[in-house]
Amino acid sequence: MAGGGLAVAVAGGVEFEAKITPIVIISCIMAATGGLMFGYDVGVSGGVTSMPDFLKKFFPVVYRKTKEDLDSNYCKYDNQGLQLFTSSLYLAGLTATFFASYTTRRLGRKLTMLIAGIFFIIGVAFNAGAQDLAMLIVGRILLGCGVGFANQAVPVFLSEIAPTRIRGGLNILFQLNVTIGILFANLVNYGTAKIEGGWGWRLSLGLAGVPALLLTVGALLVVDTPNSLIERGKLEEGKAVLKKIRGTDNVEPEYLELVEASRIAKEVKHPFRNLLLSKNRPQLIIAVALQFFQQFTGINAIMFYAPVLFSTLGFKNDASLYSAVITGAVNVLSTVVSIYSVDKVGRRFLLLQAGVQMFFAQLVIAIVLGIKVTDNSNGLHSGFAILVVIMICTFVSAFAWSWGPLGWLIPSETFPLETRSAGQSVTVCINLFFTFVIAQAFLSMLCHFKFGIFLFFSGWVLIMSFFVWFFVPETKNIPIEEMTERVWKQHWLWKRYMVDDDEYVEDDLAKKNGFGN
Ligand code: BGC
Repeated sequence: MAGGGLAVAVAGGVEFEAKITPIVIISCIMAATGGLMFGYDVGVSGGVTSMPDFLKKFFPVVYRKTKEDLDSNYCKYDNQGLQLFTSSLYLAGLTATFFASYTTRRLGRKLTMLIAGIFFIIGVAFNAGAQDLAMLIVGRILLGCGVGFANQAVPVFLSEIAPTRIRGGLNILFQLNVTIGILFANLVNYGTAKIEGGWGWRLSLGLAGVPALLLTVGALLVVDTPNSLIERGKLEEGKAVLKKIRGTDNVEPEYLELVEASRIAKEVKHPFRNLLLSKNRPQLIIAVALQFFQQFTGINAIMFYAPVLFSTLGFKNDASLYSAVITGAVNVLSTVVSIYSVDKVGRRFLLLQAGVQMFFAQLVIAIVLGIKVTDNSNGLHSGFAILVVIMICTFVSAFAWSWGPLGWLIPSETFPLETRSAGQSVTVCINLFFTFVIAQAFLSMLCHFKFGIFLFFSGWVLIMSFFVWFFVPETKNIPIEEMTERVWKQHWLWKRYMVDDDEYVEDDLAKKNGFGN
């Protein structure tokens, strides 16, 4: 996920003296646990909800439907409670983001990560020990709070502690860890589903405790970032930490820049209102649109519900779970492709190429399902089943080298300093909101739209590709502080918003008085 806050403020132009010290390496491990934790939560719910023992205990109605074959194939899992088990996490996460933005600033990154770790641990305990649906949902809500705090603080922490030259890479590394977390959850589900005695799902949910514990211990061990210490007035401590993490005493230039960045950031009295100013509008529109579109590719229909989806198509339980492992692995590998190609071929190429690939993959899936899965059929024959899995992998791979990482990277590199923190909070919130919508609605949509659900998503892929074509400028290899001149002022539409300071103050005043657009 993206970096934010003061961190990226000093990225770009100047390169300061910095070694890759042990502290920086520990930070990378932190990134791994924060990302893994999020990914694990994304990936674990689908497998668990396809386990008969889990359904028997918490959702007997759904369990009966899967056994009795009374309903249409597509509607077996259509249940609001079951969807709430997945979606409640994202609703809690988006609420927590507002508090996390405050604690990240006022209490520091370290303490905010500790809060996240504690939420995670309690949430995992509730989930693994759940006796009834209420405990299960409370557990997911607590995990969601953890996600809200972690997803705000960890990327900020990382981008502040890393030397400039590895900052961009770390940004995608966080996303890579999310995908590894998803894959890890898929693998665990595949193993625990075989456990006799009906407690496999407890192990699946309980193993989230491993990254949770690592994050908590990590948060206790690391120092807070120099940016955060300086921002909170602890100047000497900030300088001492800077020397420690950079592995040199020669930190004066970077230190002065951090102090200056902190002064400028403090001058901005209304960062959220600032976001609405004319010159910030293109970035805001693009950030919001990217989050909406990222979720409307339909990716989380696969990430959350792949095992359920495969079992809807008539796969046996085992086959559903290992097919999910395959799509999870494709997701990880394709994210690596992105790390290597994003600064070479550029953001626009990846997004547009992936648009074509996702569109055709979804079209083929819709056609196969439309022809082959009738309401009460026993699912797909193996040849078609393999074709569907291949097409889902084709879709997932395109997503993973484009919309997955770029949905986060582009907002993080386009917001100017004064609005970066606020922009980051808005980005995370909008993303979690639409993630919630998909989690809560997908199984019902599958029931009503049937194979048409894939046409629905492919329609959105077409729309978002046009959006990219016309409205998303290329930001490859452009230093952050040169974005306005080299990107926005050159764009056929967005240049109209790049008015001078005076003008947008007037624009602002005009609006206050009820004039203006
Ligand atoms: C998205 C998640 C998604 C994941 C899949 C992320 O970029 O924000 O919603 O589950 O990619 O790898």
